[in-house]
Amino acid sequence: MNILFIGDIFGSAGRRIVREHIGHVIAAHEVDLVVINAANAAGGFGVTPQIAEDSFDRGADVLATGNHVWDKRELFDYLKSAPADSQERPRRVLRPANFQPGLPGYGVYEGVTQGGVDYAVLQLQGRVFMTPIDDPFRAADALVAGIRAKVIVVDFHAEATSEKVAMGWHLDGRVTAVLGTHTHIPTADERILPRGTAYQTDVGMSGPYDSIIGVEKELVLHKFLTGMPGKFEAAKGNPKMCAVLVACDAATGRATAIQRIMLGE
Ligand SMILES: [Fe+2]
Repeated sequence: MNILFIGDIFGSAGRRIVREHIGHVIAAHEVDLVVINAANAAGGFGVTPQIAEDSFDRGADVLATGNHVWDKRELFDYLKSAPADSQERPRRVLRPANFQPGLPGYGVYEGVTQGGVDYAVLQLQGRVFMTPIDDPFRAADALVAGIRAKVIVVDFHAEATSEKVAMGWHLDGRVTAVLGTHTHIPTADERILPRGTAYQTDVGMSGPYDSIIGVEKELVLHKFLTGMPGKFEAAKGNPKMCAVLVACDAATGRATAIQRIMLGE
């Protein structure tokens, strides 16, 4: 079974480069499951229902988000429009599972591929250098224990490499893949951990790389140089799609290969 995980889509440049490549990558690698992190797809801040629908139209099975999930108010009603046991598109847009209880949306989706393989996607968010939220490690323990599918993909949306590596080791042998998002910079440490979990600290952004993690570089530089606040705008230049391909045994969920991808225009 082949899984394609596309890293954080940032703004219109990110949406465009993913549109350009997603179809041929799915076809060439006989992809069975497509997960996309769309946390910054709407101008760098959140995701709208329309962008979510467009991503599903182009082949996504599940969308993950992150700390920017509440940036677009219209997403609240979209998330709330599908009940917990639904397979509908709004139910397949995830937000981190270890947010405070009772918020809109869900952190886990369990589905079946077109080929008939049960799978689950779980999103967690880190706490190091981020807003305080519930413990992602204990949340992972509780949620993974309740998932029946063998194939489990975890999107760990976190800032610190240490926390992400720790989550990889913590879940090794219990999930198919632990893939990091949020820093927007791909790391070169993709590997299969000893008990069969594919791991990469950060998949990298699908967005404009002539930028500072997606934002127009002059605006961020100005803030660093002066300390003055400013309005951030999504950059456009040098878009690349960053993704990872994970092959796994559908019967056991154990990963057999992981490959990093970075595709430009
Ligand atoms: Fe993020």
